[in-house]
Amino acid sequence: MRVMELAEHGGPEVLKLAERPDPVPGAGQVLIEIRAASVNAADWKVRRGKSLQQHVLPHVLGRDFSGVVIGLGEGADLAIGDEVFGVCPQETEGAYASRIVMDAGLVALKPRSLSHVETAAIALAGLTAMVAIEDTLGLKPGENLLVQGGAGGVGGMAVQLGHYIGAKVAATARSDNHDYLRGLGADQPIDYRDADLGQVLGDRDAVFDCVGGDTVASSFAALRPGGRAAFVGSGGTAPEPTRADVTSLRPAVGRSRARMARVAELADAGAWKPPVIETMPLTEAVKAHALSEAGHVRGKIVLIP
Ligand SMILES: NC(=O)c1ccc[n+]([C@@H]2O[C@H](COP(=O)([O-])OP(=O)(O)OC[C@H]3O[C@@H](n4cnc5c(N)ncnc54)[C@H](OP(=O)(O)O)[C@@H]3O)[C@@H](O)[C@H]2O)c1
Repeated sequence: MRVMELAEHGGPEVLKLAERPDPVPGAGQVLIEIRAASVNAADWKVRRGKSLQQHVLPHVLGRDFSGVVIGLGEGADLAIGDEVFGVCPQETEGAYASRIVMDAGLVALKPRSLSHVETAAIALAGLTAMVAIEDTLGLKPGENLLVQGGAGGVGGMAVQLGHYIGAKVAATARSDNHDYLRGLGADQPIDYRDADLGQVLGDRDAVFDCVGGDTVASSFAALRPGGRAAFVGSGGTAPEPTRADVTSLRPAVGRSRARMARVAELADAGAWKPPVIETMPLTEAVKAHALSEAGHVRGKIVLIP
């Protein structure tokens, strides 16, 4: 199989195309032919050696994919030809590849309403947004939500899910992304470069911060007393709140078939439409990484092996 391999940590140019023997599915596993794999911000963090998860090099990057089952290990409860999608565990080899072995229990049938490219684009981003919005923040209809980084992969899914649940959604992005945010269902797009979120909002029941770093303080400032904020761009733990009357949370984005099936269910129910997607051949992963690391991708980049 063909893979895009990381043999050393560094800039985008360290990614190299390589050939590997096809992996063999063990008990309970499936061999999947990957049709599309997405680029996530986590990928360039691993490439830089900045991830909490350390990998043995050479390592295949890529956390999510959509594809077709072409091989079955003993007892795997899927069928050859099933169209499936999933998110790889952080510790395993990834999806910048033409084939991958996965535990059958971690993949689900892909949404009927989406293509493989669209499905790959929403797999990890949708899973992360769903866990944060539904499980961690427990967002309710009528609540005021702020999504920081609404034009990005995870943020765009969170804006849509917040709107679908019936919350009033504010979202931060540069002004040239504001029409895009409105199209996703945001009621109030805000340019983070010239807004004091504590002044402009300050009434948020819930904040989902998909950026981290400089945005953490403004996420806490945007909350009403008693409000709650969830962070995915700030490392593995919830940041220390800057005030005593709010709650800081770190979503636990565990992988399972049940969770992927919920992502598919939300897509087929119309809660999620695909984000803006730029597709590139897997061979252009270097270019994709340079764009992702620059921090201003609108929607998603999807690689085709
Ligand atoms: N399992 C997990 O815990 C998990 C899973 C997925 C992602 N993550 C983390 O979540 C974060 C987001 O990932 P992603 O893939 O969604 O990233 P992404 O798509 O690369 O994010 C790009 C977006 O960030 C926006 N942005 C940049 N600076 C901003 C700022 N100061 N305020 C508001 N928006 C800003 C950009 O919009 P503008 O161009 O308008 O600035 C752009 O649309 C990353 O840190 C990633 O590592 C964690």
